[in-house]
Amino acid sequence: MPEMLSVNSRTRLCCVFGDPVDHSLSPQMHNAVYKKLGLNARYLAFRVKPEDLRAALEGCRVMNVRGINLTIPHKYDVLPFLDEIDEEARLIGAVNTVLIEKGKTIGYNTDGRGYVRSLNDRYPNFRFKNQKVVIAGAGGAARGICVACANKGAHVTIINRTAEKARKLAASLNRVFKGRFQSANLDDREAFANADLFINTTSVGMKAPRDSIIRINFFEKRSIIVSDIVYTPRETKLLKDAKKRALKTLEGWGMLAHQGVLAHDIWFAEKAPANVMIRALLKNLGR
Ligand code: ATR
Repeated sequence: MPEMLSVNSRTRLCCVFGDPVDHSLSPQMHNAVYKKLGLNARYLAFRVKPEDLRAALEGCRVMNVRGINLTIPHKYDVLPFLDEIDEEARLIGAVNTVLIEKGKTIGYNTDGRGYVRSLNDRYPNFRFKNQKVVIAGAGGAARGICVACANKGAHVTIINRTAEKARKLAASLNRVFKGRFQSANLDDREAFANADLFINTTSVGMKAPRDSIIRINFFEKRSIIVSDIVYTPRETKLLKDAKKRALKTLEGWGMLAHQGVLAHDIWFAEKAPANVMIRALLKNLGR
């Protein structure tokens, strides 16, 4: 096992801002990578209250912190405070990764691409192009994944408990992606029948572990991949039901690991080994 380099005056700092933040597994994930690569860097978690976000960001900028991740509740509120925003993050309307370069703060969003990478890690032959993707949920997580799927050429149907939110999200994304999005009701069997990929982005399965957002027999294609971005528990009711029907499944932790890998790649010249981040995450997640 390589030793972690000791801290000195050239140590680079990265961090996550959240409120609360003590549940974050990012410090373990990123520090494991620094250790593996022998990078002179450290990653810390800071509890930053919403009203202090601007000051905390400015503090990092003047102290030349290298990178910041943002989690609840800062992903949206940070936008007006940044010097530049990457096009994808602007489209998603949220930032989870900030690079500080030559005194400038630049915002990115690696969540959606993190999902795509985690899927292709497990199912390398799945091509998004012209595939039918059904996404449950119309919150921030859904929006990031919607953009990543559309960027890859998929056709996306959004379903949500509050149907109006799904309709609005689809309409707003269609302004950019020209008809790739539609919305449907949760009980619209036809929307599910030909799906190639299903993604649950709602908190159902975490907050209510005995519930699933949909009835698994709605899916008709045997080749469908059923995925959940909930990672506590690792195997949600949705995934259990899918396995019982011998459908392909994808657990939620991969998205968390890969958004971290992509954040690292934005901050440092040397690419993060995904397997190191995944191992650190799973070790700390437990079963
Ligand atoms: P995030 O930014 O993490 O996506 P969010 O904006 O709070 O979180 O979105 C949560 C999503 O989970 C929403 O789509 C929400 O549905 P509503 O728009 O109808 O509120 C969905 N959700 C949460 N609890 C749910 C439940 N018990 N049943 C169905 N959908 C639920």
